[in-house]
Parts: sequence; structure tokens; C-alpha cells
Amino acid sequence: MVPGTEVSARVRAAELSLAGRSAVVTGASRGIGYAIAAALTAAGVRTWLIARNADRLHTAARALGSHAFTHPCDVSDGDAVARAASDIAEALDGAPDFVINNAGLFPLMSIEATSVDTFEDTMNVNVVAPFRVVRAFLGDMRTRGTGHIVTIGSVADRTTFPENGAYAASKHAQRAFHEVLRQELRGSGVRATLVSPSPTDTDIWDPVDPDNRDGFPPRALMLRPDDVADAVLWSLTRPVHVNVDELRVSHS
Ligand SMILES: NC(=O)c1ccc[n+]([C@@H]2O[C@H](COP(=O)([O-])OP(=O)(O)OC[C@H]3O[C@@H](n4cnc5c(N)ncnc54)[C@H](OP(=O)(O)O)[C@@H]3O)[C@@H](O)[C@H]2O)c1
Repeated sequence: MVPGTEVSARVRAAELSLAGRSAVVTGASRGIGYAIAAALTAAGVRTWLIARNADRLHTAARALGSHAFTHPCDVSDGDAVARAASDIAEALDGAPDFVINNAGLFPLMSIEATSVDTFEDTMNVNVVAPFRVVRAFLGDMRTRGTGHIVTIGSVADRTTFPENGAYAASKHAQRAFHEVLRQELRGSGVRATLVSPSPTDTDIWDPVDPDNRDGFPPRALMLRPDDVADAVLWSLTRPVHVNVDELRVSHS
């Protein structure tokens, strides 16, 4: 036997199997969230898709088949998140195995041009909402001693760019929250991963039109949503004693 293969075979055998598990993905009607939901449902995970536009959400879920469920919800609305979390926990008899905090806003404008409302909305959706979702399920995960919370960060959770006042502030805060969560969960059986993509070709770029604007990568040189979903799935399927703390993903 080639040295090392016995160990890697053991590690592979310990990889977490996804079939029969459950997940919640916020912002799952399109873009990165939809790709994550598609990867999870294809792996046999019963997946609750969350987004505001109910029609679009139902259409997305229908395309994913019988493992996809929907709960239209504005994650910046505390009562709506509480209702969604309670309905999902009731359907599952507890917290889902995986929570993917993905919904996010990306305002691109100078600080002078950023209204207080825009700044607050960005902080609400990108920072407060993931906190709400985590808070709704964490107690149950801790008691059970299993679970995995994935936060979709961004290159802007470590780097700052002009016109990113609200976005970079929110993504830096999101990363800080993830890091505290990861430290507090150490040894609990509940895992926490931050996946931080570089620009990814989704509708979020439509208002920016990066193909015709200096300073941005053209869409053809961006990641694809599936690339980010692959990173999420890889982190979820590591053996249970492995916590993938942070994955930074960029176009080669
Ligand atoms: N695309 C990139 O270049 C890139 C790079 C790094 C990180 N990211 C991060 O990746 C995540 C997803 O980005 P994306 O590019 O896939 O975005 P996207 O294509 O604009 O999709 C955003 C999703 O979030 C939902 N959403 C937005 N606000 C919501 C709210 N208040 N409540 C519930 N759902 C809401 C949207 O549906 P509704 O509008 O129907 O609610 C949609 O399903 C974000 O956190 C973003 O910061 C993106």
C-alpha cells in the first residue's frame, strides 16, 4: 500500500454523508444561494429556501425537486425570521443540520452618496439577519451536539475598496461574528465556517454593469455560483472532527 493511502481512506470513510440531512439557505432564489440549495438538494438534503419574492422562490424550489421546500421571508424582519425558524423547526422536530447564511445586499456607492437608510438596510440584511437566524437555531444545535453554520462572507470581509462603505463594514462585522461563533462553539460538536468568495457572476452585479466599467473584473473572469457552492459542500462534508474555519475562493 502506498504510504498515506490508509489514512486518507479512513478520512474519506469518515466524510459526512449528506443524504437525509436538512438545511436552511437564506437568499436561495437565485445566485449563490440557489447554487448552494441546488447542490444540497442534489445530495439528498431536505433544504428550506428563504427569500422575499415568493413567486421566484417557488419557481426556484420547483426546479430543484422534492427535497426543496420554501419559506418566503424578509430576513431583515425579526418577527418573520422567528416565524420561519419556528415553522422549519416544527417540520424538522428541531434545528436543521445546516444553516447557510447567504442573503446579502451589495450597495456600491461613495460614503457621501450612501443614505442612512441604505447603510442600515445593509447592516440589517448582512449582519443582524444572520445573527437572528443563528440565534433561532443555535440552542437546539448545542443541546443536540451537532450542526453546521456557514456564513457567506466576501473578499470585502478582509479587504476594503472605494464605494464599499456599507458593504465592507457589514462583511467585516459578519466575519467578526463568525469568528466569535467559531470560538464559542469549539468542542460543542457544532461547526462554523466562513466562505468568502471573490466576485461571482450573479444578478447582484446587474446595477454595476462590470463589463463596461473600469476597476471591476468582467463577468467572464468572475467565479460561478457553483464554484462557491462546491466550497460550501466541501466544508460540510469534512469528517466531523474537522472544522473548516475559513475558505477564501477566487478566480485563478
Ligand atoms: N456575487 C458576488 O460577486 C459575491 C461575492 C462575494 C460575496 N457575495 C455574497 O454572496 C451572497 C449572495 O450573493 P449573490 O450574488 O448570490 O446575490 P443575488 O444574486 O443578488 O441574490 C440575493 C438573494 O438574497 C435574497 N435576499 C435579498 N435580500 C433579502 C432579504 N432581506 N430577505 C431574504 N432574502 C433576501 C434574494 O431574493 P429576494 O430579492 O427575493 O429576497 C436572492 O435570493 C451575499 O451575501 C453576497 O454578499 C457575493
